[in-house]
Amino acid sequence: MVMTHLSRLRQLPLLIQPKSLISRSRLLRPPPIFLRSVMGSSSSSSSKLLFRQLFEKESSTFTYLLADVSHPDKPALLIDPVDKTVDRDLKLIDELGLKLIYAMNTHVHADHVTGTGLLKTKLPGVKSVISKASGSKADMFLEHGDKVSIGDIYLEARATPGHTAGCVTYVTGEEADQPQPRMAFTGDAVLIRGCGRTDFQGGSSDQLYESVHSQIFTLPKDTLIYPAHDYKGFEVSTVGEEMQHNPRLTKDKETFKSIMSNLNLAYPKMIDVAVPANMVCGLQDVPSQVN
Ligand SMILES: [Fe+2]
Repeated sequence: MVMTHLSRLRQLPLLIQPKSLISRSRLLRPPPIFLRSVMGSSSSSSSKLLFRQLFEKESSTFTYLLADVSHPDKPALLIDPVDKTVDRDLKLIDELGLKLIYAMNTHVHADHVTGTGLLKTKLPGVKSVISKASGSKADMFLEHGDKVSIGDIYLEARATPGHTAGCVTYVTGEEADQPQPRMAFTGDAVLIRGCGRTDFQGGSSDQLYESVHSQIFTLPKDTLIYPAHDYKGFEVSTVGEEMQHNPRLTKDKETFKSIMSNLNLAYPKMIDVAVPANMVCGLQDVPSQVN
């Protein structure tokens, strides 16, 4: 009887998979915690999402913590953790009584070493997640339209290449039981009043323009934009705000490409360390005794 019960449960995630805006949709097979969460009855999106925006000041990187606190296990995920702030993040997760399931990256960063490898070392069971197109090492690889769930909350991966070839934007679900307004974690594809550079790591200004206009600016205008970095003191924007005021992405494509090819930016000082490390989950130089 138990076996029958369990096998029926295993079908549930497929049955309740929300309709995606994107045609190619595939639910990643999550850990057993998800199977329990589908039986939850929480319907209030505002009460079930715990959200924290965290900052690493050396690289001006935002790390985002999301959790479904309506679920008994309080499953959580981190987006773009930084190696230097892993202990801070773990302390917060512990204090809030969360269970970290996923450590995700929007792309292979060139300006800091990801915290995903360290998180996995310090908290066995955590799964690292990145796009398949990144070519990086991880436990789970996402393609356009894939979903990642924590409890009843899910993120959809939208391929937004252009800053790097493997960039993705993680967007919360569109259904009424998902956080409202929607949230888009854009990595370096859209920064507040800016965007990531396109002159290395398979970058392409043509591709970035197409990605942003087809995958991000098509979201509801009140969708909150949470970027991977900010250098001016901003924390959050909206799709509508960037469509109106982004000094680069409001231009036509040819003007945008011209702007991007004339930025004359310095070679990133961390790139030769960060990119090789991030291709292996940030663990390149971490001693094996770390725990
Ligand atoms: Fe980047």
